[in-house]
Amino acid sequence: MKHASCDIGIIGLGTMGANLALNIAEQGFSVAGFDTDNDKLRLLNGQAERELSGSYQLSTASDLGDFISLLKPPRTVLLLVPVGAPVDAVIDQLRPHLEPDDIIIDSGNSHFTDTERRAKKLARSRIRLLGMGISGGSEGARHGPSMMVGGPQASWEHVSKLLRAASAKVDGSPCVAWLGRGSAGHYVKMVHNGIEYGIMQLIAETYDAMKRLLHLSHEQMHEIFQRWADGAMGGYLLEITAAIMLEQDALSSGYLLDKIRDAARQKGTGMWTSREAMESQVPTPVIDAAVSMRALSDYDQQRRQVSEILNQPERHIELETAPFVHALGEALHAAMIMTYAQGMQLLYIGSRRHKFQLVMGDVARIWRGGCIIRARLLEDLRQIYDDPNYVTLDNPMFHPSLAKHLRTAQTELREVVETCAKQGVPAPGFMSALSYYDAFRSASLPANLIQAQRDFFGAHTFERIDRDGRFHIDWLNSEQAQHG
Ligand code: 6PG
Repeated sequence: MKHASCDIGIIGLGTMGANLALNIAEQGFSVAGFDTDNDKLRLLNGQAERELSGSYQLSTASDLGDFISLLKPPRTVLLLVPVGAPVDAVIDQLRPHLEPDDIIIDSGNSHFTDTERRAKKLARSRIRLLGMGISGGSEGARHGPSMMVGGPQASWEHVSKLLRAASAKVDGSPCVAWLGRGSAGHYVKMVHNGIEYGIMQLIAETYDAMKRLLHLSHEQMHEIFQRWADGAMGGYLLEITAAIMLEQDALSSGYLLDKIRDAARQKGTGMWTSREAMESQVPTPVIDAAVSMRALSDYDQQRRQVSEILNQPERHIELETAPFVHALGEALHAAMIMTYAQGMQLLYIGSRRHKFQLVMGDVARIWRGGCIIRARLLEDLRQIYDDPNYVTLDNPMFHPSLAKHLRTAQTELREVVETCAKQGVPAPGFMSALSYYDAFRSASLPANLIQAQRDFFGAHTFERIDRDGRFHIDWLNSEQAQHG
């Protein structure tokens, strides 16, 4: 490839980086790939020969200087390296090779505060940083991911044509957008992952209920999940769940799922979402429950010991399969709506807190395709936010159409929660969703008592409903306290 002729350079040619390089080259852009591992370069070149038809422009280099010299100024370097210290290390190595107005795109799941820090540091050398969340796994990277971009708008404009071409499309509309300044892209990707945790937990609870309460076979569960995936609540996570149900174990007989250890792993993005929600005072109880359950699942040794000590309820309810499957489907749909709603409310409030000025309709639009949480509901959310009457709706569950859905489905949600509670099947996702629904529709909550308790033990004062200001009484010596 000629000197300084490549549109983009990609650092990190693992599966994601290599697939993204192939995807971009396939769209007619010239790509340079860098990795210190020569095997990865060979693999990528072989894959390109096999998979890319016609003429394509893809060069690889294992020397950073050679790699940089392949890039057209202003240079665009996309990083697909492990999060944390490796991103800082690569940026430090890159900086001496870059010039003002060159662009670094960090495409890992970096924490948004790291992106802010790195952008400020790079700005001193007038190097621009775009923080880009990318979702869709390795398949998405190869055939069209959803990409959430934040950072300087002029830098986005420089790369937007290329990213639009490489992204997933829904009805011809690319699943990529510039979402705002600074770390807006990584912030949105973090919340995407929080929603991902919530939906995965809800689907897992549904599977558990089908298995433990209805004793359904893998074929039956496959059929049910597939039907739901094809219906109104359908989405990628339901589709893969249906497929997982039928996967046979290649190492021994039976289904693979039954051989997988029941301790979920995590890289932490769900926890970041919960932490950010707590700091922003936004209730995200389904996501929080999902994060806690991943942690609890890892105590598997202890769980097996405790299962001998703590008993389960004596009562056993005979359930009819078809009606309970129906209830599970309605409950799952309602709880999923509330999980997206919790994420959307966090985005809405987080956007004000961090001054991103997110356009909520854009977020819903680019989540419709390519990403892990893509689902039919995202099109409903896009339509809600694109309606001028609802652009400032902070929580989409208050929109008349979704509120109506939840009003109806609460019956089944209650039935599922009640049955799981009585039968001793843990369902914290469903239970959190129901409490969220009940709390939001409660004109009065017992927080008056919490105010009183805080004032009692810590003189933290309380507000009154009948007059302005903050009040404090000496609870031990007051008339009210004495008379109980
Ligand atoms: C995506 C995924 C992706 C990755 C998660 C897994 O959108 O493509 O979210 O980013 O699979 O990081 O996260 P955990 O390891 O925390 O489950």
